[in-house]
Amino acid sequence: MPNAETVLCGIVLHPAGHTRSPAMHNAAYAALGLDAAYLSFDVPPALLEEAIEGVRRHRVRQLSVSIPHKTEVLSWVDDVDETATAIGAANTLVLDGEHLRASNTDWLGVVRALEPVRTLEGARAVVLGAGGTARAATYGLRARGASVRLLNRTVAKAEALARELGADGAGALDELGDAPCDVVVNTTSVGLGEDRSPVRVEAIPRACVVLDAVYAPERTRLLQDAATRGAQTVSGRWMLVHQAVAQLEAWHGPVDADRIANVMSAAFGPEPDVSGHAGAG
Ligand code: ATR
Repeated sequence: MPNAETVLCGIVLHPAGHTRSPAMHNAAYAALGLDAAYLSFDVPPALLEEAIEGVRRHRVRQLSVSIPHKTEVLSWVDDVDETATAIGAANTLVLDGEHLRASNTDWLGVVRALEPVRTLEGARAVVLGAGGTARAATYGLRARGASVRLLNRTVAKAEALARELGADGAGALDELGDAPCDVVVNTTSVGLGEDRSPVRVEAIPRACVVLDAVYAPERTRLLQDAATRGAQTVSGRWMLVHQAVAQLEAWHGPVDADRIANVMSAAFGPEPDVSGHAGAG
């Protein structure tokens, strides 16, 4: 039971919807025997500054930051670390004494979801999309030694992002099959709540790994098409789980990441059968 010593953690987002972060983090605390509690705070944009004041006043030790606050929150912290600076957004705040530090673990979610399946060093990756999630994915893949081509509906946005992050090329979504590639990460919102893929099934390389950041539904059209082609598939739940494990580590310190990822995944919900799936092991 929570008591006077319980460490308070949580997430700010708007609308709060049905976020699974509290279930995932609280399950991890229970597995680790941590006296901590993780709550969801629905904070509209106009109240973000006040909410961050509340974080300081009530000593919220780790705060996850979700849509639409990931960039705006950088204005209200004491320090922005290298990853959040490079990505231009934060998904986690840690209160260390009086000091509130912003960092980003979304990129770790991408690389840790992929690494059990494919070595990223030297891999030729394609990121579909050019929004905030594409920024984190591109940063992570490049940090692990992969080359990255950005393909987006609005080509000018992909070109601008490729220049900014030092990616290796940019183009349109229908250019997927034009060059060899080992890893595809979908960061567009196509597939969210719909049976649609951002790319044609014939364009999906047969010998690649496909990670879809979309996890509702979890068995997206893109992942089903990729499995049909014989490609390996990784569900967006593992990206979500691994960014959350890294958030926990940001305030608590290192944990057995695979074990806690599996605890969080179980709390996320039952895993549908996507043939060819490979998860956290
Ligand atoms: P996030 O922060 O989650 O990455 P975002 O910044 O809103 O979200 O980015 C959404 C991405 O999905 C963009 O790359 C967007 O393409 P555009 O830059 O052309 O807008 C992409 N997207 C959204 N709807 C799409 C659609 N119907 N077809 C193709 N791409 C789409």
